[in-house]
Amino acid sequence: MNVSDASFNRERPDVYGDAHPKALLRGIQEDGDYLLNLANQHVVSSDQFCQDTLKQLFRLAAKYESNPTRFSTPLQGKILISAFYEPSTRTRLSFESAWHRLGGDIMSITDRSTTGIAKGECLEDVAEMFNNYGDCVVLRDNHADSVELMMDTLRIPIINAGNGSDEHPTQAMADLYAIFKWRPDLLESDVPEDRKLTMGVVGIPGKMRTVRSLLKSLAVFANCFKEIVIIHDESVKDELFSPGQREKLEASGLTITLSHDLERELPRLDVTYINAIAWEGDSFETYGGRFSLSASSPLKPEGIILHPLARGEELAKDLDNTPHNWYFSQARGAVFLRMALLTCMVQRAERVIDVV
Ligand code: CP
Repeated sequence: MNVSDASFNRERPDVYGDAHPKALLRGIQEDGDYLLNLANQHVVSSDQFCQDTLKQLFRLAAKYESNPTRFSTPLQGKILISAFYEPSTRTRLSFESAWHRLGGDIMSITDRSTTGIAKGECLEDVAEMFNNYGDCVVLRDNHADSVELMMDTLRIPIINAGNGSDEHPTQAMADLYAIFKWRPDLLESDVPEDRKLTMGVVGIPGKMRTVRSLLKSLAVFANCFKEIVIIHDESVKDELFSPGQREKLEASGLTITLSHDLERELPRLDVTYINAIAWEGDSFETYGGRFSLSASSPLKPEGIILHPLARGEELAKDLDNTPHNWYFSQARGAVFLRMALLTCMVQRAERVIDVV
């Protein structure tokens, strides 16, 4: 890096769209019971938590984010087992960062071939051993049934950090956390119709775990959304939704429409969420090659872009230095969101609630 590159990086704002989380602290009344109830709960799917529980998690995340050096010991004496059998930059490192920031210790497995699984050991037996070694498990696995199999013998809580094409619930929580930091007014009890969001989702809900979990989370907050536009390629129409998926989302109050024309939709989208990666078996496929965003796309001037990352050609780097970029804030906020969730799951919430 030459000197001018270095000074550019220093002067650049940390993250565009880095709204102050204190708006969430002011906007959500603390109710510790919801957080205490998360003790020892497994986190498997995005539809397992009610709106009140999620709001309390967002509030605690905002408390951590507002004062990142205030809480350095809530997880002291606790051990996280971080098991990632599929590549990850953000999820593994943000979970581990979250745990470290709160004073806990970590055992990390990044390759299943270094465990007894390589000798044929079943996941139920691995989970039985995990009970002896740690206080919480975070698992990423390309098999959809791995989390459920481990839950059969686990007596410590497990977080699904992405299971094949099924779900990625903490990513969806981080997505919502970013949206509510941008628009804290949406957390008011009665959102007027003209303040509700129109959101575009570029992706395949039936094949992409981030999109599947996101839509379930949006359904929990259906009162905040006017319309969800699923933007997809004609060629995937037969596998766009899993059986019953769209019906269930609509039954919970979401209005879902479909479009093949991203450029036509962009000017009316408050939030554009884009993802192109889907896990299939042991590898990933990239979809939606004909959809891409750049600084010259006809975005609504105040509209924001979210992306779970890693990015490909669908998200041009010339957007990074524009106010549309909320994807870096989304990734950064995931650390604080995961700090909040982990604190509650390992029964340390009482150390941080009622503390200002
Ligand atoms: N968003 C996400 O899951 O990123 P990683 O694959 O890098 O963890």
